[in-house]
Amino acid sequence: MVVNDTIQLEESTDSTYDREAEMKAFDDSKAGVNGLVESGISKIPAIFHRKLDITENSAGDNSKLSIPIIDLKDIHKDPALRVEVIDKIRSACHEWGFFQVINHGIPVTVFDEMIDGIRKFHEQDVDVRKEFYTRDLKKKVTYFSTGTLYSDQAANWRDTFAFVVAPDPFEPNEVPPICRDIMIEYSQKIQDLGFTIFELLSRALGLDSSYLKELNCAEGHFIMGHYYPPCPEPELTMGATKHTDYSFMTLLLQDQLGGLQILHDDKWVNVPPVHGALVVNIGDLLQLITNDRFVSVNHRVLSQNIGPRISVASFFVNSPDPDKGRSKIYGPIKELLSEENPPIYKDVTIKEYLEHFFAKGLDGNSALEPFKL
Ligand code: OGA
Ligand code: NI
Repeated sequence: MVVNDTIQLEESTDSTYDREAEMKAFDDSKAGVNGLVESGISKIPAIFHRKLDITENSAGDNSKLSIPIIDLKDIHKDPALRVEVIDKIRSACHEWGFFQVINHGIPVTVFDEMIDGIRKFHEQDVDVRKEFYTRDLKKKVTYFSTGTLYSDQAANWRDTFAFVVAPDPFEPNEVPPICRDIMIEYSQKIQDLGFTIFELLSRALGLDSSYLKELNCAEGHFIMGHYYPPCPEPELTMGATKHTDYSFMTLLLQDQLGGLQILHDDKWVNVPPVHGALVVNIGDLLQLITNDRFVSVNHRVLSQNIGPRISVASFFVNSPDPDKGRSKIYGPIKELLSEENPPIYKDVTIKEYLEHFFAKGLDGNSALEPFKL
């Protein structure tokens, strides 16, 4: 990464530039960022110009650092191995908030087909994919560009195809046949692996293995299939602005292009693609209920002039639908508290927390701040 090469970010001084109107026009096109690329643009519109400095926190050599890779092979057969893995997960969740898992039981062909299915969705004829474009959170299957378009300071260079898996799953006939079967297969396999990982996380906290599942942490599950088109001016924008996830936990599948980075000890560290691995990361809600034992870490995706880059993020949190399962109250788990470890956070409902997260937008600050005691 280039050091001391700070690119100045200029606010547009053109008084004719109406940000709201440009965002609305972009949104109304329903064609996503890929629509801009398909139209052959060579300069990116000003709404995509990032506001955070890309070289922030990049000084120093972080090339030797990497998030832990944890091998789940035989953990169901060998109790000693399982204990070892749980120890590794505990320190990864505390120190990194991120790790990769291998030998998790999902065949690599399922991953390759899922990435291909997401690619096919985004590369359908614009008139076909337009039909799915919406910001209606009540819909179970949606296509949109930058979920927080109107609250963020800058739009991201990516499009998303999202669908709800649990508790109220999408109907197969709501999704196009070109990716239908793999969406069903992938989401079932990820739901099962999610349960297994929540068991390991529960044990890593010293709790019964069913503890987090019984708190309904795995009750809500939705998947976002991201498509980061090649960008003609990658240094001016971001694939995804620095943020933490609002889930309890996220399982991320990325293709081989790279670009995902996490902020570790105040430095950006690359998350290298490992074919067949899944990235696990702790979300804000798990940081809250573990009273900071597990950390929800900032991450971002750089834009590149190659691509498309495809990733599939599976979020374990109740559905974004305000009427579904978001009234349950969450606070620091009592078993994790003591005189030396007093509660850091108030009790909150997922609804309150998510409303704040979306109103704030991706500005680089933690959405947990207002919920601190
Ligand atoms: C996300 C995310 C990373 C990626 O969807 O929250 O951080 O690599 N995605 O797409
Ligand atoms: Ni994220």
